[in-house]
Amino acid sequence: LSALEFAYRMPKAELHVHIEGTLEPELAFALARRNGLTLPYADEEALHAAKAFTDLQSFLDLYYACADVLRASHDFADLMLAYLGRAHADGVVHAEIFFDPQTHTARGIPFAEVMAGLNAGRAEGARRFGITSRLILCFLRHLSEEEAFATLAAAEPFLDDIDGFGLDSSERDHPPAKFARVFARVRALGKRVVAHAGEEGPASYITEALDVLGASRIDHGVRAVDDPALVRRLAADGVALTVCPLSNVRLRVFPTMKDHTLPALMAAGVRVTINSDDPAYFGGYMNDNIRAVHEAFGFDRATWAALARNSLEASWAGADDKARWI
Ligand code: ADE
Ligand code: ZN
Repeated sequence: LSALEFAYRMPKAELHVHIEGTLEPELAFALARRNGLTLPYADEEALHAAKAFTDLQSFLDLYYACADVLRASHDFADLMLAYLGRAHADGVVHAEIFFDPQTHTARGIPFAEVMAGLNAGRAEGARRFGITSRLILCFLRHLSEEEAFATLAAAEPFLDDIDGFGLDSSERDHPPAKFARVFARVRALGKRVVAHAGEEGPASYITEALDVLGASRIDHGVRAVDDPALVRRLAADGVALTVCPLSNVRLRVFPTMKDHTLPALMAAGVRVTINSDDPAYFGGYMNDNIRAVHEAFGFDRATWAALARNSLEASWAGADDKARWI
C-alpha cells in the first residue's frame, strides 16, 4: 500500500467542516427547484465558475447566498446525509460539524427546523454508515454580541444536541474578545469552546481565543508561525489546530500548497489535524485535502498515521469509540 492509499484508508475524524459548506451545486439546484426559488446562477457550471475566490470575504458572500436554498428541515437532513456519506467514503469515522444558525434564523427559518433536519440527517448517517457525529454551533463574528446572545438563548432548548460552540465568518477586525461575555456563558453552560483564529487574522487572535474565550481547539491557526512563543505554547499544551489545506490555498492564505505552514507546525510538535472546511467550495473532501498535501510534501506512512491519530485524539468522541479507532 502506498503512503497515500494508506492515508486514504486510515480511520480518522473530521473536526472542521461547515455543513453549509458541503452544499454541492447539484443539491443546491435541486433544493432551489423543490422550494420554488431561483439561484442567481443559470446552471451548475455557472455556479462552479463563481468559485474563483480572492480572499475569505469573496467566499463568504457566495456561501451565504447559496445557503438561501436551505428552507425546510428535510433540506438540512438531505445536506447532512450527503456529507456523512461522502466523509464515510474517505475513511472518516467521526465528524464534528459546524452549523451557522444565524444564516438561517435571519431568513426566518426557525431554529428548531434547522436542528430537526441536522439531527435527522445525523441519525440516518449513523444508521447507514456507522459514522458518529457532533454539532458545533458557530456564532457569526461579523454580527453583534447582542445577536450572538440571542442565538445562544434560542439554542438553549437544544443543548443536548450541541456539544460545542465556535466562532466563524469574517475574521479581520472581529477579534475573539468581541465575544468574551458570550463564551463566558457558553462555558458556564458546560459546553466546549473552539474558534476560528489565525486564518486571515493575526497570531494574536489565536492567543486571544485561548485566553479570553477559553478555546480548547483552534480552527485554522496557521498564522501561529508568526509568534514562536505561541507555537511553543500550542505544542506544550497539546492544543489541536484544525487545519484546512485546500481552503487556505483557495482563499489565498498561502499562494501555493508548498507555502503552507502545516509541515513547520508539525515539526514544532503542534497537534495538527487535516480537514475540508467547505468541501463543496474549495475543491474537495477529506481525501482530496490529503492528496493535495501529499503532492506538496510527500509525507511517509508514519506521518499520515500521526495526523489521523491527532484527529481522533483531539475529537470529542467517547473513550470507548476512541479506543476502537486508535
Ligand atoms: N465559514 C465557513 N467557512 C469559513 C472559514 N474558512 N473561515 C471563516 N468562516 C467560515
Ligand atoms: Zn471554517
